[in-house]
Amino acid sequence: MKNGLARHLTIATVLTVLSTFGMYFVLKSLFALPVQATVEGAKIDRMFDGHWWVISALFSLIIVFMLYAIFAFSRKEGEEGEGMYMHGNMALEVTWTVAPLILVLAFGWWGSALLSELLDDSRDSEAITIQVDAYKWAWRFKYPQEMGGVETSTLYLPKDRLIVLEMESQDVIHSFWIPEFRVKQDILPGRKTYLRFTPSMTTQEIADAHGDSSYQPQVRCAEICGTSHAYMLAPVEVLTDQAAFDEALFNAGQLSADPVERGEKWYVDYGCNSCHSMDGSLDGKAGPTWLGIYGREEELVDGSVVIADDDYIRSSIYYPNEQIVAGYAPNIMPNNFEAQFLEQQQKIKNEINQDIDIVSDLIEFMKTLEE
Ligand code: CUA
Repeated sequence: MKNGLARHLTIATVLTVLSTFGMYFVLKSLFALPVQATVEGAKIDRMFDGHWWVISALFSLIIVFMLYAIFAFSRKEGEEGEGMYMHGNMALEVTWTVAPLILVLAFGWWGSALLSELLDDSRDSEAITIQVDAYKWAWRFKYPQEMGGVETSTLYLPKDRLIVLEMESQDVIHSFWIPEFRVKQDILPGRKTYLRFTPSMTTQEIADAHGDSSYQPQVRCAEICGTSHAYMLAPVEVLTDQAAFDEALFNAGQLSADPVERGEKWYVDYGCNSCHSMDGSLDGKAGPTWLGIYGREEELVDGSVVIADDDYIRSSIYYPNEQIVAGYAPNIMPNNFEAQFLEQQQKIKNEINQDIDIVSDLIEFMKTLEE
């Protein structure tokens, strides 16, 4: 009998080990993570990997022993007696209590050590600090004054530099998330939150590793924040080095002399595109499409009809709650565009002495979107 037990244990243990490797492989391929593109992401993935191993081992331990017992110890032809009665096994019970306890404590320690490393602000002085403004439903990134104070709707980053994001929401709770970077942080109104990471791959390298050279990594919002939550996206451009990064930022800060081109830039920069499509696709959702909007007759919620001319469009952007188009809800559109535009126009005036009217640019752009 003793020999028999040793044999059963050996077989079950070998099967458990084999199953652990098999399960690990299955889980890793079934729930493959996106490309890993930050230094911090590598550490997070290592911990994630540790979880996969533990999950595979525990699953195998339970399932293999159970299935093995069902097949090896089922009643054989001609067996009539009672099965062996067992009551308690101190060594076994202590083991299955203490081992998981140690395992859970170890993972708890690992997780909190890694979290405190990610929150460490002692190297902030050598980092590039970018202000992130989140609002329904767009992102704006403001670069430091010594980098020209450029504001963009694309997140430009240099590879291999520590980045600190200083984030604040203008309205509800949003959440900054780039799947390839692994780290994620909620953004709150009236309170700053921070996120630190070091990109380890350029956008092109990420796309190539993704298996599609035209793939575009994006900032996503990971907190349900309303109608256009799913469209709250911003492209991420990780450049090879500081020089390429400086050049990209400089180009992003340039203003076209063509009002239509500027209008298209503002349309993207201020996130109009999250709610107002250029092709009618979002119509009936967050906001009316801009396709054919200029000169269109709009019926308002009070039944009156207006023509979408310059004055109507300007007041709709500045005071979005005053004239609501039938079928749409008030309080959807940010109502601080007037202040934002005046500030931006003043900045442009100070920097390059150019008089720009953002609303006129937008209207010029709208005029090109004919049906
Ligand atoms: Cu912002 Cu979801």
